[in-house]
Amino acid sequence: MDKIAVLTSGGDAPGMNAAIRAVVRAGLYSGFQVFGVLHGLQGLIQGNWVDMKLGSVADIIHRGGTILKTSRSSEFMEIEGRITAYHNLQRKKIDNLVIIGGNGSLTGGWEISKLGINVIGIPATIDNDIAETVSIGFDTAVNTILEAINRIRDTASSHGRVFIIEVMGRHCGEIALSAGVAGGAESILIPEINNNLREVVNKIEQGVQRGKLYSIILVAEGAGPAYEIKEFLAEQTGMEVKVIILGHIQRGGTPSAADRILASVMGKAAVDNINEGRKNVMIAGGGYNVEAVSLEQTLKKSKQVRNDLISLAHVLAT
Ligand code: F6P
Repeated sequence: MDKIAVLTSGGDAPGMNAAIRAVVRAGLYSGFQVFGVLHGLQGLIQGNWVDMKLGSVADIIHRGGTILKTSRSSEFMEIEGRITAYHNLQRKKIDNLVIIGGNGSLTGGWEISKLGINVIGIPATIDNDIAETVSIGFDTAVNTILEAINRIRDTASSHGRVFIIEVMGRHCGEIALSAGVAGGAESILIPEINNNLREVVNKIEQGVQRGKLYSIILVAEGAGPAYEIKEFLAEQTGMEVKVIILGHIQRGGTPSAADRILASVMGKAAVDNINEGRKNVMIAGGGYNVEAVSLEQTLKKSKQVRNDLISLAHVLAT
């Protein structure tokens, strides 16, 4: 019987469980034996497997985190670690490996594919920083941030304060940009562009002149540090400025409908691609529409900055 191993790796993202469920159920439906690898790429090195049955993935579609657990494996970044992982897969006669994770995890996947394992990548990271696709977890994280913005807006408007909300995203501004547009932020600072703090001051002051006594500023973690921006804004505007760092709250919680659907569609597509004999691809797309793209080529590309969203945010915040 042909075999598939599935694992989650890197930062957890809401919807990973829905993706695991889809890979396991679609894999079993197609007649594969499916193994779950515990603790991500590190678990491959340790040979940490569980035999997955239909019931193994019952009652998880709505849960955040990952039932397979995850890790950031520095050992896997070394060739020795990958060779050990490869031998473990060979011993188990597993030819197909589905990796659910972000950029680093999929890059690890590409590296082990060079040793002769067929790797199918499923993009899952709240950062949404993988080229050519929406990543599982992004939609939920943005919605979590919107909930926080709504609450902060109440207190910000009551006191007439400036709030800087720092969101995750590593080197990418996707989260800040989407949450900023959807949350009606006055300014959005992202790492991909040169942020002009003078413009932020002007926006705050223009708001005050037309009677808007508070401001919400979204800062991607890669465009911080938020506390330095706070010092500058407080000094320049003379207003009270507060910083909120949302941190790992953004990674948890029940996945949104959009993430559950994307995860289910991508998980099934991963198995379909194995069935169709495609090798070393990443499932890419959004919503119900996904396709297989080259894992190697996609990882070489960087995510394009959403200039349309930047100018939209600018126009709507004037
Ligand atoms: O990649 C997801 C992410 O949450 C980034 O936004 C953040 O920079 C990083 O992971 C935090 O990593 P850790 O949970 O290992 O501290």
